[in-house]
Amino acid sequence: MYRIEDHMGRRFEKLRVSLLNTCNFSCTYCVSSGPDATQNSLVPAFREEQLDTNDFAKLIAAVHRVCGLKSIRLTGGEPLLYMNLFPLIEQIRNIGIEDIRLTTNGYYLKQTANQLSKSGVRSINVSLDAIDADLMKTISRHQNPQKVFDGIEAAVEAGLNVKLNAVIMRGQNDSQIIPLLDYAAKIGVKIRFLELMKMGHLFQGQNELFFSEKEILETISRSYNIQPLERKASDTAHYWSAGGQRTFGIIANESTPFCHDCNRLRMDSRGYFFGCLSNAHGEKLAPFIEDQDLLIQKLRQLLLLKQPVKFHGSKLSMRNIGG
Ligand code: GTP
Ligand code: 5AD
Ligand code: SF4
Repeated sequence: MYRIEDHMGRRFEKLRVSLLNTCNFSCTYCVSSGPDATQNSLVPAFREEQLDTNDFAKLIAAVHRVCGLKSIRLTGGEPLLYMNLFPLIEQIRNIGIEDIRLTTNGYYLKQTANQLSKSGVRSINVSLDAIDADLMKTISRHQNPQKVFDGIEAAVEAGLNVKLNAVIMRGQNDSQIIPLLDYAAKIGVKIRFLELMKMGHLFQGQNELFFSEKEILETISRSYNIQPLERKASDTAHYWSAGGQRTFGIIANESTPFCHDCNRLRMDSRGYFFGCLSNAHGEKLAPFIEDQDLLIQKLRQLLLLKQPVKFHGSKLSMRNIGG
């Protein structure tokens, strides 16, 4: 199988596919505020260009042939809103990609957890930014936080490998770090705290909300003894153990960037590919899937766009590109 590689030895081994750019939440770090904020994320930004399921599968198969993908992560918007999710998962498995993962806001997990597990999905990352119900409502701008907890717990019961993602913002939910850590330990899952990334509407904004990795570690150290654990190559998170019985990670795009061994490629719901989250330039690969040499050439160009050291922010909106 062909493998493209850049001068730093980076390849495309993990494909992240945004299935649709609509979402039933409007998290403040993802969707800008304004009178129509809660409606924003339900309006598809480019409905007329949305790929159909067979085209998703064709593109994934073509990229797999030249990159040898090790895993695929389905994202959104909210991927559980995608009507043809299970047929697409089956098509991806038929392509020969066994490791299929999904990142979700958790709202529809209770009713889908068993089917996800049976379909062969291995790992699910769920956004959970607070334990306090009012704070959850404020950040996600939706009204039923209990559904997210029920979804997370159903996913654990269904045997899925669950990780929680909490984006920490100063003065908003930094009070939630210990409650989130304790909740994750109680239900036996890993949690990762994320530094706020300058994406979409945050691209050129002020960073008074930014809460650093160092501050997250200081907060946890006040309650628990923490020990760093070894980082796996290309992992977005660094992990620590806290008080011996808890494990948490930090995804610190600013403080501890991980561009040096990034192996991710992204596709949006129109079939545009992005070699780097920092680069807002997407390439439509559909015209090249029958011509392997041209496809390789295009992917090589996208690989060159990867940042060498550090994420620098991006005009791309997370709900279009899937985090
Ligand atoms: P697993 O390792 O499979 O759990 O995946 P993940 O951590 O990549 O998945 P998830 O969808 O939960 O992404 C979590 C966060 O990692 C995203 O919101 C981003 O903050 C960050 N992230 C993921 N991929 C990239 C990337 O390619 N570049 C940068 N700079 N950040 C990324
Ligand atoms: N900064 C950091 N994380 C973000 N996410 C969405 N927008 C941002 C941002 N601006 C996170 C979500 C989800 C993950 C895929 O991306 O919380 O868990
Ligand atoms: Fe939806 Fe995820 Fe964006 Fe929140 S971060 S609005 S859950 S796409």
